[in-house]
Amino acid sequence: MQKQQLAKSFESIGEEYDRYRPGFPAAAAAEIIPELVDSVLDLGAGTGKFTELLIERADRVVAVEPSAAMLDVLRAKLPNVEAIVGGAESIALPDATLDAVTVAQAFHWFDRDPACAEMARVLVPGGTLGLLWNHSDPTCTWDRACHRVAHPAVAEEDATTESAAEELPGFAFDHHAEIAWSENIARSAYIARWLTVSSFLVADEETRAQMVAELEAILDADPQTAGQSQFELPMLTDVFVYTAS
Ligand SMILES: C[S@@+](CC[C@H](N)C(=O)[O-])C[C@H]1O[C@@H](n2cnc3c(N)ncnc32)[C@H](O)[C@@H]1O
Repeated sequence: MQKQQLAKSFESIGEEYDRYRPGFPAAAAAEIIPELVDSVLDLGAGTGKFTELLIERADRVVAVEPSAAMLDVLRAKLPNVEAIVGGAESIALPDATLDAVTVAQAFHWFDRDPACAEMARVLVPGGTLGLLWNHSDPTCTWDRACHRVAHPAVAEEDATTESAAEELPGFAFDHHAEIAWSENIARSAYIARWLTVSSFLVADEETRAQMVAELEAILDADPQTAGQSQFELPMLTDVFVYTAS
C-alpha cells in the first residue's frame, strides 16, 4: 500500500474523525508555545483537534490541510482560524511571517525535505517547529493488542515518531517531552475510533469486519475491559520541538 494512498484515506471522513479521534493535552501546546505569540500555523490540521488548543497561545491561528472534508469541520468549529486547503510541500503563505508551526499526527505523511523547506520558509528566523503524536501506553495490554490488529501491514502510528529525526533540514533540535494523560472512553467509541485509522479505512469490507471482530475479541478477553462498557484509556503524547536555524 502506497504511503500517498494511506494519507489520502482521510479525505472523506471529516465528521467521524472529529467525533472519535482523541484530542491532545493542553500541556502539549504549552510545550511548543510556552508564551503567547503573534502567529502560528497548524499544518495537516485535519478537523482542528490540535488547532483548537492554539487559540489561547497565538493572536493569529492559521490551519493548512489538504482534505476539504476535514477542513469543513474545522471551519465550522473554529470560525476565527484562517483555514487554507493545501499540503505541507507547498504552503500558500508568505516568507518569514509565522512565529511557530505545529504538526499533530501528520508529519509522517509529509514529503519530508520539501515540507521542511516550506516550514522553514514561512517561519521567522528562530521560529519554533513542534511535531507531536499521541501514542498508546505500552503498559496497557488491551490497547497494545488492538494496535497490533491495526498495524501489522502498515505502520501509521508506530512509524510516526521515527519520522521525527533529531536532524531535520533547516532546523535545530531543541527538546523532546512525553506527556502522560488518560481518556475515559465508551467501548463503542473506542471501536469507532479504530474505523477512522488509515489501515481500517483502506481495507475491503470483509477484511475490515474481520479486524473489528479481532478488536471485539481482545476487549472481551482482557480482564481490564471484559464486560465493561466504559474504559480508562491511558495515552502518551510525544512532543518534539525544533528551532528554525
Ligand atoms: C492523522 S490526521 C491528523 C489531523 C490533525 N492534525 C489531528 O491531530 O487531529 C493526518 C492529517 O494529515 C493530513 N495530510 C496528509 N498528507 C499531508 C500533506 N502532505 N500535507 C499536509 N497535510 C497532510 C491528512 O489529510 C490528515 O488530515
